Amino acid sequence: MFIISVLLVVVVAGCGRSVDSLDVVTPQGLEISNFFMVTLVIGLLVCVLVAGVLAVAVARFRGGRYPVGEEPPQVTGNRRLEITWTLIPLLTVLVLFLISLRIMNVVHANDSPSAGGLPIQVIGQQFWWEYRYPAPSNPSTQVITANELHIPVGQIVRLQVASNDVLHDFWVPQLGWKRDAVPGKTNTMSMTVLRAGTYDGECTNLCGIAHAWMRIRVIAESELQFQSWLTAQAQPGDPPATPQQQHGQRVFLANTCTSCHTVAGTTAQAQVGPNLTHFGSRFYLASGVQVNDPQHLRAWLENPQAVKRGVLMPGYASLGNDDLDALVAYLEALK
Ligand code: CUA
Repeated sequence: MFIISVLLVVVVAGCGRSVDSLDVVTPQGLEISNFFMVTLVIGLLVCVLVAGVLAVAVARFRGGRYPVGEEPPQVTGNRRLEITWTLIPLLTVLVLFLISLRIMNVVHANDSPSAGGLPIQVIGQQFWWEYRYPAPSNPSTQVITANELHIPVGQIVRLQVASNDVLHDFWVPQLGWKRDAVPGKTNTMSMTVLRAGTYDGECTNLCGIAHAWMRIRVIAESELQFQSWLTAQAQPGDPPATPQQQHGQRVFLANTCTSCHTVAGTTAQAQVGPNLTHFGSRFYLASGVQVNDPQHLRAWLENPQAVKRGVLMPGYASLGNDDLDALVAYLEALK
């Protein structure tokens, strides 16, 4: 246990990204991380005790005390000692087990829909994340977006984690714990985020060649900001304004883009790839590989494999410069 704890701390401390696994922002996650600290301290005490006794034994009974070839007196059977060193670990593990049970109850307390709160479907796909919210005007319809998960602070958010293809795993360290995304099964993750901010995470289940590029960005914001975001997401994006953007929309609708993507308000309604209705408002493209700007988008459209090996999107270099530039202008204007 101790070695595992130390390894975890080393891994967490060594993460080059701006993720602080110990700076947890949900009460549910705090229960888990506090418990981790308790087990870490217990493991440390056990380690010091065992190493200390070992050191004393090595020093006290080192060679030279007995003539060469002669065994020291052998001690066997001390019932009181044996009961003591059986009972102490047994009780320690029992107490940790009971605390674990309590924490599991706290973490899962709001998993049932009767607890209220906002249900959000989180769907793992090769190799990106889809999020589906109940539409504000008509909760039986959905607002669909990708890769950037907006959530309101201070209220129960019920993430319903599932997968559309293979096993993925939804992990945002600062939320406090993670859930497998399993095809055909929904795993619930209910939480209340206490602090507004941006929290990064990623898929942690090897799910294929681009597994490392299933980044997650959680944007926790005030209820007011969240509601205005969701209301905007529920609307189609602005129609193309400039001639170049209009040209880009024609290119988009005339090509196989429409076989995979939706842009609300157009004939593109496929749900294979990420919903692009408000693509231009996202910070990253390709699930966190690149910052979403015209240069990177242009490179992506030309040859997605060069940007994110294993991505299921084909390249569109054959469109030629004019069409590609127009397509970039159109997509970036989808705010
Ligand atoms: Cu999805 Cu790894």
